[in-house]
Amino acid sequence: MERKRVKVAVSKGRILKEVCGLLSKSGYPNNIAKSATRELIFNIKNLQILACKPIDVPKYVELGAADCGIVGSDCIAETNCDVYEPISLPLGKCKMVLATLKTKKLVLKPGMNIKIGTKYPRIAKNFFLKHKINPEIVYLNGSVELAPLTGLAEAIVDITETGSTIKENNLKIIDIIMEINAKVIINKTSYRTLRDEVELLTSSLLKKIKI
Ligand code: PRP
Repeated sequence: MERKRVKVAVSKGRILKEVCGLLSKSGYPNNIAKSATRELIFNIKNLQILACKPIDVPKYVELGAADCGIVGSDCIAETNCDVYEPISLPLGKCKMVLATLKTKKLVLKPGMNIKIGTKYPRIAKNFFLKHKINPEIVYLNGSVELAPLTGLAEAIVDITETGSTIKENNLKIIDIIMEINAKVIINKTSYRTLRDEVELLTSSLLKKIKI
């Protein structure tokens, strides 16, 4: 029986290599991570892989342009998307942290004023609201570590994986906000209309991951 096509939005960022490796092992052989092409759509068996910016993956899935997505939990939390999250993958492990200059004494106190540079305004705001602080958020698109070095912000909320960027820019971690890993997310309508196909994909991935 011919299976219906499942559109899978995949983060083009750091986790692409690991995700494509897992897909290959799970019966969807591909060379997407190695390919030098500028193409953004790849067909592997009954999957159509859409290579998206990480933060856009939840939007593609929530709005139905993709049936599933494979994306970091940071992007899921930041977009607060309305999707199913049935599987956690042991890939793309990193942390969301609050960091500032090594030389700065930063103690969080309710009601204090603080300016934060970040690519993750929702996560940052929620973290500070738990501390009863209403932060001023400076939204940045990248090289976030520059913000405290230049005085643009007092501290940053950003992801760290190896810790090298923080270390090499003379910053220190003040608090760990969340642990991050990749997850499979599914569009709520697709979960009904493409249930067999989606379950075949998720069970194939599950068989190949060590939990
Ligand atoms: C991310 C993050 C940090 C860096 C941390 O940036 O924003 O800058 O990785 O990684 P590390 O702990 O392994 O050093 P990314 O590489 O995605 O680039 P960007 O600065 O353009 O956002």
